[in-house]
Amino acid sequence: MASVPSLSAQVQQRLSAALSSALPEAAGADPLLRRSDRADFQANGMLALAKKLKGNPRELAAQVTGAVEQAGLISDIEVSGPGFLNITLSDEAVLTTLAARYADARLGVPTADEPGTTVIDYAQPNVAKEMHVGHLRSAVIGDALVQLLEFMGETVIRRHHIGDWGTQFGMLIQYLVEHPHELDHSGAEASSGEEAMSNLNRLYKSARTLFDSDEEFKTRARRKVVDLQAGDPETLASWQKFVDESKIYFFSVFEKLDMEIRDPDIVGESGYNDMLQDTCRMIEESGVGVRSEGALCVFFDEYKGPDGKPTPLIVQKSDGGFGYAATDLSAIRDRVQHLKANTLLYVVDARQALHFKMVFETARRMGWLNEDVRAVQLAFGTVLGEDGKPFKTRAGKSVRLEDLLDEAVERATEVVRSKAEKVGLTEAEIEENGRHVGIGAVKYADLSTSATRDYKFDLDQMVSLNGDTSVYLQYAYARIRSILRQSGERSPLPHPELELAPAERALGLHLDQFGEVLAEVAASYEPHKLAAYLYGLASHLTTFYEQCPVVRPLPPLEVGENRLFLIDLTARTLHQGMALLGIRTPEKL
Ligand code: ARG
Repeated sequence: MASVPSLSAQVQQRLSAALSSALPEAAGADPLLRRSDRADFQANGMLALAKKLKGNPRELAAQVTGAVEQAGLISDIEVSGPGFLNITLSDEAVLTTLAARYADARLGVPTADEPGTTVIDYAQPNVAKEMHVGHLRSAVIGDALVQLLEFMGETVIRRHHIGDWGTQFGMLIQYLVEHPHELDHSGAEASSGEEAMSNLNRLYKSARTLFDSDEEFKTRARRKVVDLQAGDPETLASWQKFVDESKIYFFSVFEKLDMEIRDPDIVGESGYNDMLQDTCRMIEESGVGVRSEGALCVFFDEYKGPDGKPTPLIVQKSDGGFGYAATDLSAIRDRVQHLKANTLLYVVDARQALHFKMVFETARRMGWLNEDVRAVQLAFGTVLGEDGKPFKTRAGKSVRLEDLLDEAVERATEVVRSKAEKVGLTEAEIEENGRHVGIGAVKYADLSTSATRDYKFDLDQMVSLNGDTSVYLQYAYARIRSILRQSGERSPLPHPELELAPAERALGLHLDQFGEVLAEVAASYEPHKLAAYLYGLASHLTTFYEQCPVVRPLPPLEVGENRLFLIDLTARTLHQGMALLGIRTPEKL
């Protein structure tokens, strides 16, 4: 594995060297280099520098220009406008840099300078409840971040903080104790996720009805909560049945999503049960929390309710029960002190932002979070229906995730089938591709908009062949693979001595930015920037095809090799980039 410095890093380095040799007093100044339409790059830093040194920016720029070492990298550098530098790279430098990327399994992408340990909290549905589109977002965004961070060398620990604890279980368990056969599959497990969920739904409804209508049942249910929290083995065994049944369902959804969720990483609210007492004791003893009407509360000046009174974080209720905050605070202790995390990342709906602000602030006051550990909520927006309102069925019910995914796959399969004959796909391949295209479409639609924004769930748009969709990228990939197969799957050798056509250069320069984009995306947790990069890559490819034939008409031998080389590198970059977003790239489409 050899990391390859990007062209812009190479230029940056030459400019910095020129700056310090021509103007020793300017050593360390940022040349402010960026991609440009006029030349390959433009450096704007001379303007600010001239101001600082009280010089003439054009003269300064000319001085630096004179001092830049061009050999092997820069074919032209000139001063323009008020004192910009326009820099054009040599074709040779572009091709040799790309060739170094091509030779590396990681495409020359370096790992982060100082990787650390991130605990990422994502894909956290609730036991005995249907998953909704919000859980889909957390899973999709979280999974992409896991892939991205790991690729950049970070140690990533996954935590699926499922909702598997709390008072509602008293009702469910008591009902199950009184109707022992309701989760009984005559010895066999529920055969499908769907069946598991429908069992749970039925049970939930019956338990609820009884709870609301029968005072005595209510009392028995409340007593069960106490048994559960006290760790009574029989009660725990019933509770476990709910968890197991729910996991059958969760795993079926995650599998549909083509996502690997591992059982040991599922550490739900119940996983911190043993820590709750201590967490509360420490908070109370330190004075960070105070008793208010019996409840253990943490107060903040900045968070007030509509009545102007401060809204506290309630860590322990007046009846002694622990809530969501106690579990999250205990989880922080565990993740920092035992898992040794430097970063805690929470991929959770923006509607929980206040909860996390308060929890993080409490943990800071307790010293559990400090300069060495940061906590970030990646607060994502709401999934909207075509009417721009939170996504619901026509009847106003929330949409079943599995139905939604099935429909996406169905639509995608139609799209794949309409083109299948031309590429010669078998029925099995059509179905497999349909799944990859359909699930890819759902993931890409989510990942290609900034996570913090709401987005519209529009299946027609998602599986469209034109525009910023995953199918468009998947077709771009498959088309390249088909050309490469036709040319005998050899590894084409680049010819750095040849001149590059404008579309070849543009594609090449874009390819070279992959590593920088990944570094930025991983640092800012913004997968949509990777999606935008990949879409840009496919667009450059389209222009390239229009202007630079690869096989038909057959270009001169060496030109053809160069072009095959460029599209092969493009295919590998697309494949790697899509994989980091959790999206497959079928070989034939
Ligand atoms: N189970 C919660 C929900 O469905 C999300 C959990 C988020 N993670 C956490 N550490 N609180 O809303």
